[in-house]
Amino acid sequence: KKKSRSVHVCSSCGYSDGQWWGTCKQCGEVGTMKRFATESAGQKVTGMRVSDNAVRSCPVKLTDVYGQVDSSNWRIPLDGEFGDEVERVLGGGLVPGSLVLVGGDPGVGKSTLLLQVAALIAEGIGRVLYVSGEESVEQIGNRADRLCIETEELFLHSSTDIEDILEQAQRLSPKALVIDSIQTVYLTGVTGSSGGDVQVKECTSALQRFAKKTNIPVLLIGHVTKTGDIAGPRVLEHIVDGEKFSSHRLLRSVKNRFGSTEELGVFKMSQSGLQGVLNPSEMFLADPHSDSDYLAGLAVAVIMDGSRAFLIEVQAMFLFSLICCIALCVAGSSSVVRHVNGVQGSRADMIISVIIKQAGLKLQENVMNFTLIAGIFLNVVSGVSLTETAGDLAIAAAICSSFLEFPIPHGIAFVAEVGLGGELRMVAQLEKRVSTVAKLGYKKCIVPKQAEKSLSEVHRGPEAMEIVGCNNLKEMINSVF
Ligand code: TYD
Ligand code: MG
Repeated sequence: KKKSRSVHVCSSCGYSDGQWWGTCKQCGEVGTMKRFATESAGQKVTGMRVSDNAVRSCPVKLTDVYGQVDSSNWRIPLDGEFGDEVERVLGGGLVPGSLVLVGGDPGVGKSTLLLQVAALIAEGIGRVLYVSGEESVEQIGNRADRLCIETEELFLHSSTDIEDILEQAQRLSPKALVIDSIQTVYLTGVTGSSGGDVQVKECTSALQRFAKKTNIPVLLIGHVTKTGDIAGPRVLEHIVDGEKFSSHRLLRSVKNRFGSTEELGVFKMSQSGLQGVLNPSEMFLADPHSDSDYLAGLAVAVIMDGSRAFLIEVQAMFLFSLICCIALCVAGSSSVVRHVNGVQGSRADMIISVIIKQAGLKLQENVMNFTLIAGIFLNVVSGVSLTETAGDLAIAAAICSSFLEFPIPHGIAFVAEVGLGGELRMVAQLEKRVSTVAKLGYKKCIVPKQAEKSLSEVHRGPEAMEIVGCNNLKEMINSVF
């Protein structure tokens, strides 16, 4: 029996959900969720594939290729501050014949980003075709107007039929082809509605073949699902992914055959589109709570998501409360009450005990035979959960900061596991975490002592971030507070 699931997609922002909602959970529009049937994966492709006739290539003489060998390393340059950031993530300019997938949440700015990239290429080397299956030509025109794009060489096309798109591209022979988005295009003869697994896969490989044969780079937009995967199978060579960071956008590469995946592009959003940020520490100056009184009990941890490092904030709030003290003395349980959100309870308990025993902070006090008990609230900002032990030091620092009522100065990150003896231990992928911190313009990173030397060698120079190695929690407290 054929099973087909249905998915509800918001026609205004592209948000999709298994369930129907009266108001879109993403953009809040009312009555925009439409039902689509998706074919279950693994079905046979019954129809024909896109006809390759249009883009057929013939065997060539080796001696004819010789002359072109030099140009094989050529990349399409992207100039300016904005272009520099994109180039950095791509590992240099755009490689002719490559396929680049730009993924991200709806509304994160993918269309804006690629329209700007398209304009940049058009201004630089000529003709670019921007195809949208989501917006009309007028809508793209309005956007381009807002972005102050005036180039004569940018061609707009609104279509969802891959064969039509490739035919137009073939005729126009642009220097680059942009498609917004992979979920809206379809191939006739392939089962499933557009956006379905089979369609996404077939359309992507048709585009990839087109790119290879014509040497025209294809830039593709893909919506990501909640889990961060591009909807549909991951058949793509590189996935570039933007993520939300308040008014800034980070662009990083997940897979890249033509360069490193370590690079991070930082952009500032503005009325006239995305602007490259060359000095990311600006980002923190622009941050609302950086210039105001910064709060005690806030510390920055670095977590890994696959191969990507993320910075997250851990908050701790500390209260002495006589009421819960009495209640707990009676119950005879642990003397520190903690409430956690996003942090493992057992891990938090361990860190609290270590702070009391090894670092000598008096989180609990004996007053006239009563044990005065502290209540600690721990929270990870933005609802991420901190499951890695690499976040231990940040949790400890947040608790100490709250207890001492001393805010941790801005621009310090904490990366270490805390052992039972209060000692700081090494964590997996420390270099990667630390270099992400450095790229984001942080001034100081607290790491285990044994990693200090090797990391300091990597991060040196007048502008470099300071690496502070500590043996244990006491040393950390002395060097930060
Ligand atoms: P859009 O590029 O449409 O996002 P996506 O294609 O990923 O869904 O951008 C979403 C909205 O944000 C759009 O209304 C334009 C606005 N925007 C700005 O005003 N300035 C910016 O720098 C960016 C990136 C977006
Ligand atoms: Mg869009």
